[in-house]
Amino acid sequence: MEYLFADRTQRFSSSAVRDILAVIQQGDVISFAGGLPGEDFFPTQQLQIAYEKVFASGKSTLQYGVTEGYWPLRELLSERMKTKNIKCTPDAVLMTTGSQQAIDLFSRVMLSRGDIVLTDNPTYLAALQVFRSYEAEVYSVQSDALGMDPADLEMKIMRYHPKFIYVVPNFSNPDGKLWSLERRELLLELAQKYDVLILEDDPYGEIRFDPSAACPSLASLDQARSHVLYTSTFSKTVVPALRSGWITGPSPVMRMIAQAKQASDLHSSSLDQRALYFLLRDFNLDTHIRMLQTEYKKRMTMMRDFLIRLPGLRFVEPQGGMFIWVKAMDELDMTLLLTEAISHGVAYVPGAPFFVENPQNNTFRLNFTHSSPEILQLGMSRLASVITA
Ligand SMILES: Cc1ncc(COP(=O)(O)O)c(C=O)c1O
Repeated sequence: MEYLFADRTQRFSSSAVRDILAVIQQGDVISFAGGLPGEDFFPTQQLQIAYEKVFASGKSTLQYGVTEGYWPLRELLSERMKTKNIKCTPDAVLMTTGSQQAIDLFSRVMLSRGDIVLTDNPTYLAALQVFRSYEAEVYSVQSDALGMDPADLEMKIMRYHPKFIYVVPNFSNPDGKLWSLERRELLLELAQKYDVLILEDDPYGEIRFDPSAACPSLASLDQARSHVLYTSTFSKTVVPALRSGWITGPSPVMRMIAQAKQASDLHSSSLDQRALYFLLRDFNLDTHIRMLQTEYKKRMTMMRDFLIRLPGLRFVEPQGGMFIWVKAMDELDMTLLLTEAISHGVAYVPGAPFFVENPQNNTFRLNFTHSSPEILQLGMSRLASVITA
């Protein structure tokens, strides 16, 4: 039998990160590869209590739900977003199966074959997979440590007429970058001037090491709520297994996204949404997030102190998020070196697949949130022996 797949499947690709994770499931490999939160900090007991409350609420809780999500949860979420200055009513919030699904649904309703998306370079690999799966072309905008270069962005908006601009302005994946306020404002200004939508992906905004640091979202700056689609998730602040994210934005786009979601999966798990509702209602998530900020900063500092001692490595210390993005000596190809690293019992993600254009083969991404301090020390000494060999 010859399986005649749709043309668009030719653009499908497997994520380098997932492939690596599959390889290192076996054996004694310490992985800094996945974007995994620290299991030591999962609010397991509180989640168990929350699920017990769901089951105690009667059989109707196990019934089908509405596509946009469980209303009381959307109410709580819109209140949380208001504290971050994002103007939002509950009916403008749509619950998704992780923010990954929000990226997918938004792309599905916006992108036709050959449409253009502008992104940072490097950027979140799984977003690139989504854009390409809808047969879009992705072009990168030049950027520095503060965010996208406004002049290059304007030139590319005029040249390519993109359907949207995809950004992760808070502690980006993979490079941990935190955009300056000025660059956020300039991006929004250009989006408004040329009427281009922005997809703001914000999974890491709450994982900041200086809780007083202001990182206003583009959605909060977009007072008219006309140009920014904002998505975030509970994967990093509660647990990824909940697969609970959300998206909010201009109502015509949200209506279209709801239709796409209905066609895709009717709605995200109402069981999990109800558990999340009880968790948010009865557990102090903000106290939990403050604990994560403190503990993750300790792990980042430990990894940073190790990296500083290794010759030829360059990196910018992240102010939050989950990753340190490292540039090794020019002659090191971190994709080739990975096999060697795995044989030494340590894994990272090579940086090349995160680039839209001009991949830098000497880059790699390290996750500092998942490993306990003891494992982190051991893994970093294994990595040191590979890099200095
Ligand atoms: C930048 C970015 N966006 C979206 C996601 C997807 O998160 P989830 O689907 O678990 O909410 C991730 C996960 O690592 C990410 O790094």
